[in-house]
Amino acid sequence: MADIPYGRQSISDDDIAAVEAVLRSDWLTQGPAIERFERMVAERCGARYAVAVSNATAALHIACLGMDIGPGDLVWTVPNTFVASANCARYCGADVDFVDIDADTFNLSLDALRAKLAQAERLGRLPDLLIPVHFAGQSCQMAEIASLAERYGFGVLEDASHAIGGSYGGAPVGSCRHSDAVVFSFHPVKIITSGEGGMVLTNDPALRQRLLRLRSHGITRDAGQMQGEAEGDWCYQQLELGYNYRLTDLQAALGCSQLERLDAFVARRRRLQAAYRNALSDLPLRMARQLPETDPAWHLLVVRLEQPQWRKPMFDALRARGVLVNVHYQPIYQQPYYRQLGFPPGLCPEAEAYYQRALSLPLYFDLSDEAFDRVIAAFRTSLSEVAS
Ligand SMILES: Cc1ncc(COP(=O)(O)O)c(C=O)c1O
Repeated sequence: MADIPYGRQSISDDDIAAVEAVLRSDWLTQGPAIERFERMVAERCGARYAVAVSNATAALHIACLGMDIGPGDLVWTVPNTFVASANCARYCGADVDFVDIDADTFNLSLDALRAKLAQAERLGRLPDLLIPVHFAGQSCQMAEIASLAERYGFGVLEDASHAIGGSYGGAPVGSCRHSDAVVFSFHPVKIITSGEGGMVLTNDPALRQRLLRLRSHGITRDAGQMQGEAEGDWCYQQLELGYNYRLTDLQAALGCSQLERLDAFVARRRRLQAAYRNALSDLPLRMARQLPETDPAWHLLVVRLEQPQWRKPMFDALRARGVLVNVHYQPIYQQPYYRQLGFPPGLCPEAEAYYQRALSLPLYFDLSDEAFDRVIAAFRTSLSEVAS
C-alpha cells in the first residue's frame, strides 16, 4: 500500500494544459500570465493590488522592506510558524520578538499580545511591525489586532501563507481590511500551488509600486519614477537595491488554473476537517477551536495530543504504518540560529506546550475516503498502543 503524505498538490489536465500553453507562447517569464494571476487573486480576495513573487519568503521580505523595516526596528510574530515569518525581519536587519499563542486556536493570543504591548510601552520599545500568522488556515482576530495597531502605532503584515480561500468577518482573507499587506504562499503543500510562488496583496498604491521595484532589482521603467530625463526608450533606472524575486509565466499560468479550483479545494478540506473531528472526537486529544468569525481554508489538520510523551511514539508508529504525519511547528526561537540571538527557553510557554503534543495528519484535496479511513484506523491503533 502506498504511503499517505500529510499534504500534496493536486494537478489536473487543465493545470497541465495551462502550463503547456505558456511553453508554446512567446513569454516564459515577464509575460501576461503574471498580471493575470495578480488580477485574479486581487479580485478573488477583494484587495486593490497584488504583486506576484517567487515564493512567500520573498513576499515577506519585500513586504517588510516596503513598509520601511530596517536596522533598529522591531518586528513581532508568533513562534508557532515556519521560520520565514521571522527571517524576513532579520533580512532587513531588524530585531525580532515573539508573542505566545492561544492554547485553543493555536493562533496568536490576543491576551498575550495585549500584555506584551503594555510591557513594551512601559519599557519604551514598542514593535514597528506585527506579523500575525493564520496558522493552519484559520485567520487571526484581525479586527482586535488592527485596533491595537492603531493604539500603539505599529504596522500589520498578515502571513496568510496557509489561508487563501478562507474568510474572516465575512471578508476573504487577503482583503487587507485590517492590515497594511497580506502574503500568500503557493508552495505545493499549500492550498493552491504554482510550484513555488508567493504574493503580496495591499490596498496602498505607493506600497505596490515599491514592491514591483523590489521584486525586480530595484529597477523602474516608469518615466514618472525616474530621476531626470531618460536618454531614450531603452532606459531603465535602478532606484534602490532590489532582488530578482520574479515569478515565471509558467508558474503564474499554473497559479491561475489552480485558482479556478480554489472553491473545490477548500470545500474538500473543510469536509475532511469535519470528518476528522467526528472520527477522533472520543480520543484524548483536541483540534483547533474554530472562532465564529472565521471560516478557515484548513491547510493543516493538527491534533494536540493530551500527553506530550505520546507524540514521538505516535509519530514513529504512524510513519511505520505508512501515514506520513508531520509536526508544525517547533517554536522558532528554539532553532539554533535564534537561540544564539539570546532567546531563552520558556519564552512562550503555550507554544512550547503545544509543540510537544502536536501532530499534523494527512489533509489534501485528493485524499480519498479510503485513505482517510486508513489514517483513522492507523491513528486509533497507534494511540491505543502508545497510551496503554
Ligand atoms: C506560515 C508560513 N510562512 C511562510 C512560508 C514560506 O513560504 P514559501 O515556501 O512560499 O517561501 C511558509 C511555508 O511553509 C509558511 O508555512
